[in-house]
Amino acid sequence: MGRRWVFLIGLVGAVWLLGSGHGGQQPPVTAAQRCFCQVSGYLDDCTCDVETIDRFNNYRLFPRLQKLLESDYFRYYKVNLKRPCPFWNDISQCGRRDCAVRPCQSDEVPDGIKSASYKYSEVANNLIEECEQAERLGAVDESLSEETQKAVLQWTKHDDSSDNFCEADDIQSPDAEYVDLLLNPERYTGYKGPDAWKIWNVIYEENCFKPQTIKRPLSPLASGQGLCVEKRAFYRLISGLHASINVHLSARYLLQETWLEKKWGHNITEFQQRFDGILTEGEGPRRLKNLYFLYLIELRALSKVVPFFERPDFQLFTGNKVHDAEKKMLLLEILHEIKSFPLHFDENSFFAGDKKEANKLKEDFRLHFRNISRIMDCVGCFKCRLWGKLQIQGLGTALKILFSEKLIANMPESGPSYEFHLTRQEIVSLFNAFGRISTSVKELENFRNLLQNIH
Ligand SMILES: *[C@@H]1O[C@H](CO)[C@@H](O)[C@H](O)[C@H]1NC(C)=O
Ligand SMILES: *[C@@H]1O[C@H](CO)[C@@H](O)[C@H](O)[C@H]1NC(C)=O
Repeated sequence: MGRRWVFLIGLVGAVWLLGSGHGGQQPPVTAAQRCFCQVSGYLDDCTCDVETIDRFNNYRLFPRLQKLLESDYFRYYKVNLKRPCPFWNDISQCGRRDCAVRPCQSDEVPDGIKSASYKYSEVANNLIEECEQAERLGAVDESLSEETQKAVLQWTKHDDSSDNFCEADDIQSPDAEYVDLLLNPERYTGYKGPDAWKIWNVIYEENCFKPQTIKRPLSPLASGQGLCVEKRAFYRLISGLHASINVHLSARYLLQETWLEKKWGHNITEFQQRFDGILTEGEGPRRLKNLYFLYLIELRALSKVVPFFERPDFQLFTGNKVHDAEKKMLLLEILHEIKSFPLHFDENSFFAGDKKEANKLKEDFRLHFRNISRIMDCVGCFKCRLWGKLQIQGLGTALKILFSEKLIANMPESGPSYEFHLTRQEIVSLFNAFGRISTSVKELENFRNLLQNIH
């Protein structure tokens, strides 16, 4: 049914568009407006408006953040990509003919992902070819220069000597390796179709707080009856993360491939299929709103954690003193810029209930997050797994900060701080995850312009 519906609605939309275009009464609704119509003006839960966020992000924050993320401290992330998927065995359909070509019945595809499922049978037919492509494009480049390998040894010593009381056990595993994020950009990998849907569906279905009445996994909780503001927030954060990843895939699409070179760039069709108000039955603009919401939450976490980074004993340690001091200055500059942005959240509405309740909520969030990061071990495409893990850890770190607001505010200005600490992994993931969202917001502007031009 999904396929026919979307087509029908698309058709009705097109006819309606034509009609309104000829009427001459109102200005025609452009393709750009159809993606962004609801994504403008004030955002719920915050009185800041989208246009202000765009200006602030695209011109003031984004360029500096890019520069920071290119530095050695931030470009190497340690990750274990070899952990087995704890939830099911059939991770990779690739190379398994019988699985690859088995077309799925429409009713096997959950409602919420149907908006994308009309492509299903085509996808199934092309699956073998796509799998081969996905394996190639999704591979992680693990090369590190000899120099970097030596430096990394030093970092490990440095990290071990600080109070890493909450280091994820994963990182101690001999399978965990450093990867160079700049060598492995997040972009289109060909990883889509049933495998990818399954992952997102498990994330939404099993791991999100939701009201009993929820109809579809992708529907953000319009009013969120029965849910406290934090639980509703959790759901919107996951949806925002999903949206951000899809913005990236649409903006770094593999447009052309010859034996000589690959050409990556914006694919407007792909973007519209994911975010157009009509093609997605209204979900698209809401997903984009959740992306802004995620942006604001991470921004808020960064503004709250400034005292931790301002401490004189905090270093962005890579072993090069001059370089490290420079980068710390850039980091603080960025953080102060963020702090100056008027967020206008209701300070009391998030993560600040009475202590007992807050602790319970914190534990709930932690369990959900742990679960979601384990689901990332089931992602078949390694590059997607890498960025998925990094972004989940980054978001988890942002929430840890928001839950620790009081501890951070009361932190001693120097000397050891036992109450609140961030490991290198947490810091790298926090800033890189925010860098992804910041890039998405910037890309939305690019798509807006591209869509305006095609009308
Ligand atoms: C964790 O994931 C599993 C498998 O999807 C699920 O059964 C379980 O309820 C989840 N736990 C939490 C706390 O979300
Ligand atoms: C853009 O994406 C659409 C839909 O996903 C795809 O059919 C099309 O081939 C892509 N365009 C290019 C130039 O790759």
